Amino acid sequence: TENRMKITRKLKLEPWHHGYYNTRKGLNGGKRMSVLYEKLETCYKYYQSVTDFVPRVGLILGSGLGGYAKNMKVEKEIPYGDIPGFPVSTVQGHDGKFLLGYIGDVPAVVMKGRVHYYEGYSMQDVVLPTRLMKRMGIEILFLTNASGGIKKGFQVGDFMMITDQISSFVPSPLIGENVSELGERFPDMTHIYDPDLMNLIRKTAERENIAIQEGVYLQTTGPNFESPAEIRMYAALGADAVGMSTACEAMAARHAGIRVCGISCISNMASGLSDEELSHLDVQAVADKRSGDFERLVTKTIEQM
Ligand code: HPA
Repeated sequence: TENRMKITRKLKLEPWHHGYYNTRKGLNGGKRMSVLYEKLETCYKYYQSVTDFVPRVGLILGSGLGGYAKNMKVEKEIPYGDIPGFPVSTVQGHDGKFLLGYIGDVPAVVMKGRVHYYEGYSMQDVVLPTRLMKRMGIEILFLTNASGGIKKGFQVGDFMMITDQISSFVPSPLIGENVSELGERFPDMTHIYDPDLMNLIRKTAERENIAIQEGVYLQTTGPNFESPAEIRMYAALGADAVGMSTACEAMAARHAGIRVCGISCISNMASGLSDEELSHLDVQAVADKRSGDFERLVTKTIEQM
């Protein structure tokens, strides 16, 4: 923060100016280096100072999966608060740390807790953890969340494999100077969710006898739940489920060349589609109730990656 304030003063920039997060001279031997990349490297240097573990798969735990650690052999824990500059979640039930270890034989990094855009972080900060996992070495990112069901036929407690997404209602995390060390300026988003990983999830669900729906996930900013009119609009636009995370992380991961897959737990029917009013507690309760099958599906899938 102190550094950022110095930069702000020097350049007379405010955070809302385009370019605030972009580049400056001075560090890296006078070569221009993106402030964002510098921040990422600071986090990565800390990571390297505490472990030499190289994960191949990253897993971000959504609501209900907070007890996931029992499914893996944990070798090392890194609380988010220990990592310099790392965004720390403020949401109840989202306490934050990286778990490093093995899921089956697969070296993995698991995020217990994630930050959300509605907490006030910039989109660049929201996806910093995803980018840090890329620096750690992940080739695959497995995203999980709880969401509101929109598609006809979906029921509370269903799982939905994410086949595509709509992120047009939140700012792109790729806005700002492109960090070329991570990926290209205009990344393709034709196959955000990897077709082979989708097949792996389908096969695993079948083998494990776990029913799974498929559909398009739409991200809103939150923190409010939607109005019924908004849900009707999202349905008309092709959304099957709605939530407040995930799409931005998937986009940042694709930008960085990571293969992505994701599963959502339908914790409630979206606004106006049932008589129930929506509450975070109900979302958590349903996600908790489905955690056994959810954990098994995720674990058995990752074991084959
Ligand atoms: N809307 C948005 N986010 C959500 C919902 C919802 O209905 N359920 C769980 N996360």
